[in-house]
Amino acid sequence: MGPRARTAIGFAAAALLAATGAAFLPGTASAGTTLGASATEKGRYFGTAVAASRLSDGAYTTILNREFNSVTPENEMKIDATEPQQGQFSYGAAEQIVNHARSRGMSVRGHTLAWHSQQPGWMQNMSGSALRQAMLNHVTQVATHFRGQIVTWDVVNEAFADGSSGARRDSNLQRTGNDWIEAAFRAARAADPGAKLCYNDYNTDNWTQAKTQAVYNMVRDFKSRGVPIDCVGFQSHFNNDSPYVSNYRTTLSSFAALGVDVQVTELDIQGASATTYRSVVEDCLAVARCNGITVWGIRDSDSWRASQTPLLFNSSGQKKAAYDAVLAALNNGTTPTNPPTTTPPTTTPPPTDPPSGSCTATLQDSTRWGDRFNSQVTVSGASSWTVVVSVTPPQKVSATWNGSPSWDGSGNVMTMRSNGSGNVFGFTTMANGNWTRPVVQSCTAS
Ligand code: XIL
Repeated sequence: MGPRARTAIGFAAAALLAATGAAFLPGTASAGTTLGASATEKGRYFGTAVAASRLSDGAYTTILNREFNSVTPENEMKIDATEPQQGQFSYGAAEQIVNHARSRGMSVRGHTLAWHSQQPGWMQNMSGSALRQAMLNHVTQVATHFRGQIVTWDVVNEAFADGSSGARRDSNLQRTGNDWIEAAFRAARAADPGAKLCYNDYNTDNWTQAKTQAVYNMVRDFKSRGVPIDCVGFQSHFNNDSPYVSNYRTTLSSFAALGVDVQVTELDIQGASATTYRSVVEDCLAVARCNGITVWGIRDSDSWRASQTPLLFNSSGQKKAAYDAVLAALNNGTTPTNPPTTTPPTTTPPPTDPPSGSCTATLQDSTRWGDRFNSQVTVSGASSWTVVVSVTPPQKVSATWNGSPSWDGSGNVMTMRSNGSGNVFGFTTMANGNWTRPVVQSCTAS
């Protein structure tokens, strides 16, 4: 083989490499083999509800540990579990789940600090200012106990009525005064300033429904008055009475446009239609601020609605068609923002170079907790930019803000693009024992 031929093959190989590399560009196809890995490649988490009582079931934990990188205690952090007698707190079952998750690098969603349901008897019997005080004390105690261990808290759950009224749900908490929700959020922020704080509800998926609009108006009001809210959880228990509708994506993006993250927090679908599961994943991936999906249980037999067989694994722990659909949707991702160039090479150079240039990105350390730390990156020299940052394994980025992130196949290299939120973005790194500072690899103006 002459040098010429070798060069030609070298070129072809380089072109092939470039094309293969393009498959891992942000927003394009990726190739994870588990829900968690594939979601991470898209800058999201994939979680499940976990019951402490099932952690001794090996078949259950095998799937949990393999597939998921976020967990939500199904009942163990509810008020009746954590404060069974007024002023006496009980955290054993919740801590079992938190420890199982965090020792394996999974993040934890806390669920839930204030709710009309699953209240202990003593709270059910309270009203007025005594109840308000007890509720705020509960929020403060529980959020303080788990401070630094919970990435996101569902601070308030299910506070709006079903139907066409658009009103708050009547409850003992609501009767303490309409400001009970914002009071709970302020108490949670004070107790754990590093946690993201969510409002969580069901039947808020259909954009045209009064309940959805009522929650939307509350979140808009909270944002305008500086009430500390960071995210909205959509339970998304879909069934024949409350089906998935195609305007779900509009709902997610409309809430996100208020300046909050959105999360699918308790997903299950009666009958587990693969098409519907796929749509939910595609809708989340289409919304930059939809940062994670949690299914409400692992196997159908673990579901609170087991007879609806609504989950991704059957009762024997085998993957269902819905699982394959979800994994494929996560791997296909969203429409490429930078489609790979398919134009064959030409002998004449293109008339103009694509707009690109350099910029400077400076990384600063920010808050540090027992298990994770924040970094802030300031970009100068461009208003539209792409910054590549790497973290050191086994570190994992668990949250980002003020940019649109995507990950390479390894999950250690994050590409952050400007998204109109300004020139400073930030992210949280789970240390997993390694406190090396993340490194800015490049800054490109676009
Ligand atoms: C459910 C649990 O899955 C059940 O085990 C329990 O008996 C009742 O609560 N909305 C929520 C969840 O926010 O906390 C509920 O979980 C399901 C509906």
